[in-house]
Amino acid sequence: MKMISIITTVLMFGIFLASCSKEGAKLPPPYTGIMTEEMKIDRGKYIVGTAACDDCHTPKVMTPEGPKFDMSRRLSGHKSDLKMAPIADKSILKDYALTNSELTGWVGPWGTSFAANLTPAESGIANWEFDNFKRAIREGKFKGQENGRKLLPPMPWEVYRNLTDQDLECVFAFLKSLPPIENVVPAPIPPDAAPTSDLGVVE
Ligand code: HEC
Repeated sequence: MKMISIITTVLMFGIFLASCSKEGAKLPPPYTGIMTEEMKIDRGKYIVGTAACDDCHTPKVMTPEGPKFDMSRRLSGHKSDLKMAPIADKSILKDYALTNSELTGWVGPWGTSFAANLTPAESGIANWEFDNFKRAIREGKFKGQENGRKLLPPMPWEVYRNLTDQDLECVFAFLKSLPPIENVVPAPIPPDAAPTSDLGVVE
């Protein structure tokens, strides 16, 4: 009797696990009605607010409770005048990836990368069409250009590429609705760059 109840419990647990993984793989059904621009912006705001874009793309202000998003510069990327502290021992980059306290500048075996300006400013996405955005996210191409370089870590485009076309359109509509903030994000620094740069890693 005891044996049977153990088997039943194991079976039930298996079914529970199987149903969880099936649930995880299921794509949300596309919205079938016509979406107004306002609906797209609202949904885009919701997706951006849950997909952690702010973590890397929004500058931070330090408060007694730790870093908080600087919403007055929302999604404007790594601040152009924010220097990366020198790293005394570059050999640790073989084993570690490091970030600044704003989580907008990143150093690793790929060099130094800086979170992009996603606001509709000249130094951001003012000149982008939806196709640029789609290519940037789906194929990980810089500025969404066909011959653009590959986007560097830690931009998780391989995760966001799973968003539906419709959701990507919504995210793009939301980004385009943001106040434009001019901020020229520094170009990435290759791992073997001369140690003269005052932005990236110096010996
Ligand atoms: C873990 C940090 C991180 C998160 C989270 C993140 N990004 Fe990024 N993103 C970056 C970095 C760093 C770059 C710059 C990569 C480079 O220069 O190659 C970047 C680049 C981009 C680019 C390309 C910009 C260009 O000029 O080509 C787009 C578009 C983008 N991110 C959109 C998003 C969106 C939308 C989200 C949320 C759904 C998001 N990112 C979340 C770190 C992040």
